[in-house]
Amino acid sequence: MSSIDYNETIPNNVNLSEDRTLKRALEHWQPNYLSWWQDMGPDGSHNFDVYLRTAVSVDPQGWAQFGHVKMPDYRWGIFLNPGEADRKIHFGDHKGENVWNDVPGEYRANLRRIIVTQGDTEPASVEQQRHLGLTAPSQYDLRNLFQVNVEEGRHLWAMVYLLHKYFGRDGREEAEGLLERRSGQEDNPRILQAFNEATPDWLSFFMFTYFTDRDGKFQLCALAESSFDPLARTTKFMLTEEAHHMFVGESGVGRVITRTAQMINELKTDDPAKLRAAGVIDLQTIQRYINFHFSVTIDLFGADESSNAATFYSTGLKGRYEEGKRMDDHVLKGQSYHVLEVRNGQLANKEVPMLNALNEVLRDDYIKDSVAGVERWNKILDKAGISLRFKAPHKAFHRNIGPLAAVKVSPEGQVISEAEWKANVDTWLPSAGDRAYVASLMGRCVEPGKFANWIAPPVMGINRQPVDFDYVRFN
Ligand SMILES: [Fe+2]
Ligand SMILES: [Fe+2]
Repeated sequence: MSSIDYNETIPNNVNLSEDRTLKRALEHWQPNYLSWWQDMGPDGSHNFDVYLRTAVSVDPQGWAQFGHVKMPDYRWGIFLNPGEADRKIHFGDHKGENVWNDVPGEYRANLRRIIVTQGDTEPASVEQQRHLGLTAPSQYDLRNLFQVNVEEGRHLWAMVYLLHKYFGRDGREEAEGLLERRSGQEDNPRILQAFNEATPDWLSFFMFTYFTDRDGKFQLCALAESSFDPLARTTKFMLTEEAHHMFVGESGVGRVITRTAQMINELKTDDPAKLRAAGVIDLQTIQRYINFHFSVTIDLFGADESSNAATFYSTGLKGRYEEGKRMDDHVLKGQSYHVLEVRNGQLANKEVPMLNALNEVLRDDYIKDSVAGVERWNKILDKAGISLRFKAPHKAFHRNIGPLAAVKVSPEGQVISEAEWKANVDTWLPSAGDRAYVASLMGRCVEPGKFANWIAPPVMGINRQPVDFDYVRFN
């Protein structure tokens, strides 16, 4: 067994050096994690020195320390936000009781499932993104990709810490399983479908970090309310890092739009064929990517009606988004909420007990938040004098979970026939041709300060560095 000084190599605020059982469990897990990173982490990057942010503590001075590091030597730390003194459970049947610092036996299986499901998404996205470095549109973007990747790695550490510390032997087995499943692999896939989809190009990457990392934000916010205090404190710190991932997505898509808008004004046409001939991504293709990533991501919130969601809430395991800011009884018994169903061939609202609709409540909160960013993208078009507007599709469009999976619905929310769907699907979702075109633009552009033709440079660099800073040294 190695004699690594874990306090040194794993920055932490959980007294790792004093917890021998945990230390032994991590000593066993860490080499497996590193070999997973070698195999499934960013392709061909192991010798690069990358300008990365590392968290060495949770306070303002420590949570974002920048410097060039080799990614396999990244110090994946374990951090919990400081505990609140006398924190009380503030929703569900245990409302008013003290929060738990250990796992109550009766909730053990459900808590483990919640933590494993969250944990599984973290390495999954690293796997999905592992080839993108080979076609980075700039050094700045390459650095951002790697930053997202190492932090998803840290989020895996955060969940594995909980499994090792609080779930004994089955926790350790689950932690191994998190390194064994593979995104998109048929016989041992990742748990959630969106994390088995490919992320084949940079437009997909920016859409993924905008839409799907935002799903992460909402799930983490719901878990940050948990009565199991170590989970609440862990996810609170993860949220501070998640903000950067969504920034990468929003600004990335925004820069693609900026570049296309420039070309539209330069060529005085918005004809997709002419824009493609000029090497930029037409707005219609961007809209189809929005439709795809939005619909695949809202499936992640689960079935509209779910007795599990009710149980997770009532037992205090998982709250709502911004639970503490809501003005109701935080127990929700006897209250109702609308979900969609198909009635006589039309979408119709159906009233169901709110507790059973909490997946839908979280999905609706997510939709509000993600639509706001689409409006910010529209501002770029507005400023450029272009009249087209992007629109998030109807929430019943292209669904794979719940009763809506059984029908075909247009982006405007009309229930349509299979034949109508087939006739229009290529104008609504990225076609093989769209994907091939976007793929044809992908090529490595990594000289400092240079950007691929299809994307505008960012307004400013990372951590107040110039845009042409050497964010990645290739050695
Ligand atoms: Fe994450
Ligand atoms: Fe993320």
